[in-house]
Amino acid sequence: MGRVVAFGSSMQRVLVLDFGSQYTQLIARRVRELGVYSEIIPCTKRVSEHDTADVKAIILSGGPASVVSSDAPPFDVNWFDCKVPVLGVCYGMQLMAHVLGGKVEQGSSREYGYATLTVTDNTALFAGFEKSEKVTAWMSHGDHVQALPPGFTRLAESPGAPVAAMGNSQRNFYAIQFHPEVVHTPRGKEILSNFLFAIAGCEKSWSPEGFIEQSIKQIQDSVAPSSNVICGLSGGVDSTVAAVLVARAVGDRLHCIFVDNGLLRRDEASKVVERLGAHGLGLNIHLIKAEEKFLSELSGVTEPEEKRKIIGRVFIEVFDAEAQKISKVTHLVQGTLYPDVIESVSVRGPSATIKTHHNVGGLPEKMQLKLIEPFRELFKDEVRALGRQLGIPDEILQRQPFPGPGLAVRVLGEVTPERLRILREADHIFVEEIKAEGLYETLWQSFTVLLPVKSVGVMGDGRTYEQTIALRAVQSEDGMTADWAYLPQELLRRVSNRIINEVKGVNRVVLDISSKPPATIEWE
Ligand code: XMP
Repeated sequence: MGRVVAFGSSMQRVLVLDFGSQYTQLIARRVRELGVYSEIIPCTKRVSEHDTADVKAIILSGGPASVVSSDAPPFDVNWFDCKVPVLGVCYGMQLMAHVLGGKVEQGSSREYGYATLTVTDNTALFAGFEKSEKVTAWMSHGDHVQALPPGFTRLAESPGAPVAAMGNSQRNFYAIQFHPEVVHTPRGKEILSNFLFAIAGCEKSWSPEGFIEQSIKQIQDSVAPSSNVICGLSGGVDSTVAAVLVARAVGDRLHCIFVDNGLLRRDEASKVVERLGAHGLGLNIHLIKAEEKFLSELSGVTEPEEKRKIIGRVFIEVFDAEAQKISKVTHLVQGTLYPDVIESVSVRGPSATIKTHHNVGGLPEKMQLKLIEPFRELFKDEVRALGRQLGIPDEILQRQPFPGPGLAVRVLGEVTPERLRILREADHIFVEEIKAEGLYETLWQSFTVLLPVKSVGVMGDGRTYEQTIALRAVQSEDGMTADWAYLPQELLRRVSNRIINEVKGVNRVVLDISSKPPATIEWE
């Protein structure tokens, strides 16, 4: 199964080589905000493995390693021979200095946080700055460049970095020790803009409209007029926007398969189909009711990974059986986002599995389908912007994420119809109250979890021995890290009262106040 539809491939682009910095994703995003398409690739990629035809510039990201130690990630020095401008950021600067003949010194102490730079050369990268201007920038480094490589000049200095920026105007290689991509470097965008437009000669060619137009054309070019395309629709933002985009390209040759696995929230399957139909988005939806199959396969299973694997497998079986009924299917659409990709692949290869996400690379080779993943390089807010451009209503675009394995990972322990009923009712109350308070769209997720714990209570004059519901509400940018959300006490009181009074079988409600890391958002 390969990716044929290479999005952005015929668009000018900037490659960001990822050396593992927590800010790499921000670099790519800032570049796109400036109107140039950019994508991130692992630093271990060799030039020969990549199509560099439309690459206008390369940015080397920051990273946690030291270029002068043995744990430095492998790097193909041929990236410096691509004849395009290169910008090194933090680790990327040290790497440039090290590889091109300068000297990097291992620091005895770290320079971390705000620093004041003095601009010593206000041309090129610092065009628009005053000579000797003091500029606030965000630093996070231990090592620093001690001696410039041949052909380079110093462009800025700071108390912790004698060379805070350097450049070689002959080769158009520039490097900065600070992070221009974070908000703590107030003029960082100007520096990136100088690099992209004045130095690399990029054009502003990236916009939601442009991306949609290009993607439609690429999909039409790669899917033969007689072929069909399938898509797993979940009703969530990513799969809906992906489906609407692909439907614009191939019309009702796109078959959207919506599997009701019996693990959805209250009335969700019918609501999703109704909502998507009501907005005239032109989707050809096949609704498959498979609740019994999923629940019988999950019967007696309590181990989280086993549950996830069963759900992934059964999903594929059900999906495949439906897909077999459609003739000449050649492509599969997935709404995979960049954070899904990096949670599955680390800089140096596969990372340890924390949780199996069945929507990434989960569909079997045996289906022999080519993948269409239009959003593989994008973040959720960028996909929402595309969705808005495609005319998808906010009611759908603002939906909180919902995991593929659904309520099975929120019913801790065995998944039974009765335990699902309890969770669904409690969840409905919590979300209803969150919405009434106007908080729904300010939270990344808000949901309930049914714990495998019974506790003693008292109701009327009698002793109860019943189930426990945990409330989970988090704030997050992309699901990779998250903070537990402060909810008003009055709201918590109302939710707790309502759940205990209205949901038969629950006598205790608790609040989850753990952040990710070290906890995860879902409990399983
Ligand atoms: P965790 O629990 O790993 O979740 O902190 C991070 C985000 O991912 C969602 N999630 C999933 N989404 N398939 C999905 O599509 C899955 O298997 C899955 N597991 C977790 C979770 O809801 C949170 O937003």
